[in-house]
Amino acid sequence: MNILILGGGGREHALAWAVHQNPKCDRLIVAPGNAGIDAIAECAALNIEDGEAVVEFAAAQSVDLVIVGPEAPLAVGVADDLRAAGISTFGPSAEAAKLEASKAFTKEICDAANAPTAGYARFTDAAAAKAYVRETGVPIVIKADGLAAGKGVVVAMELQEALDAVDDMLGGAFGEAGAEVVIEEFMEGEEASFFVLCDGKDVLAVGTAQDHKRAYDGDTGPNTGGMGAYSPAPVLTDAIAEKAMAKIIRPTIAEMAQRGTPYHGVLYAGLMIKDGQPRLVEYNVRFGDPECQVLMMRLGAQALDLIQAAAEERLGEMQVNWGNDHAITIVMAANGYPGAYEKGSVIAGLDTRAEDSKNMVFHAGTASSDGKVLATGGRVLNVTARGDTLREARDRAYLAVNSIDWPEGFFRKDIGWRALD
Ligand code: AMP
Ligand code: GLY
Repeated sequence: MNILILGGGGREHALAWAVHQNPKCDRLIVAPGNAGIDAIAECAALNIEDGEAVVEFAAAQSVDLVIVGPEAPLAVGVADDLRAAGISTFGPSAEAAKLEASKAFTKEICDAANAPTAGYARFTDAAAAKAYVRETGVPIVIKADGLAAGKGVVVAMELQEALDAVDDMLGGAFGEAGAEVVIEEFMEGEEASFFVLCDGKDVLAVGTAQDHKRAYDGDTGPNTGGMGAYSPAPVLTDAIAEKAMAKIIRPTIAEMAQRGTPYHGVLYAGLMIKDGQPRLVEYNVRFGDPECQVLMMRLGAQALDLIQAAAEERLGEMQVNWGNDHAITIVMAANGYPGAYEKGSVIAGLDTRAEDSKNMVFHAGTASSDGKVLATGGRVLNVTARGDTLREARDRAYLAVNSIDWPEGFFRKDIGWRALD
């Protein structure tokens, strides 16, 4: 098979790494890719948010399957364009991608599916929203309706913070994404992520994970895209996963199908778990980054079979071949991230390390120049390892982190603490 993966971060490196190990994969192209991906696949320059350009490219390269990594191309309908052109695609339609692109839409679906989630109200008028906030009190959660690059959620512990968030969002700080706000009940509990593949009707769980959103040790500092993750997440027990499937995920998939907008691809459910009960925090319509890195480390080559079955609507015949293993990924980020950071510093020590099915450095933001690897992003490397226990995986990953020579970067030293202490 000829396979095209869209994206160029650590998530896509992990997808490419898993896919290229499968003997079915004859040719692998990743657009745009990065310096790490370049070692295992062909990288191609392509505007992945331009559906027409992607279709033309995929047809010209005789691509049999397209795997869409990030949400932006999905939200603008690239998967629709590909499917309309008869190209097998893993990723939801623009209409189904609203499960991530619109928080108000997700709430509507949860209502219709009777899926447990936080109570909420929707507003486009700031005075009405603020009156509601005053009446409800804190803690309270204010969310911009649309995609706001992970910055559209304020969990307010103080009333003033909540009122300011309403003013900011409805005042245009996020443009169209903030034209409407969703104000939610604050949910207590422990968060974990649940990943399922969907083919429009059938659903298959492909793993659980927990990430670390704050920049610094002890879950302090600013929020980031994620500084590390591990899988499985022990808090998401089999019993809770089954409840999430029965009460949240399957009803959502059934509701989407019943509306004539069936869901295809991976559905990433952020869950809040309290007293053995899961409630939905949010959906994402893609693999998490860096959660994908730990899922791919555990799934390996079978990931391609599962993804292909989802794209071809035959998930019902598949099952995951689980090992009794744990995976962890440590994000190495540029000093200053998630604020301003320098680009172009040299990363040394990457070529001396063994890479195998238990050790991989996935590249998130790198480029190569004159035989050197340069940092080009905020999150730059995802040092990933697998082991029989989380502790073993963790120790292996930190050993690898310490062999990388990159003074301009930093990492958290406590990834996995919730599951280890
Ligand atoms: P979201 O973008 O919806 O995932 O929100 C980002 C983060 O805000 C989540 O991962 C949670 O930590 C937190 N959050 C969102 N909604 C709620 C809620 N209703 N109650 C408590 N925390 C929340
Ligand atoms: N790591 C969180 C996300 O991908 O949304």
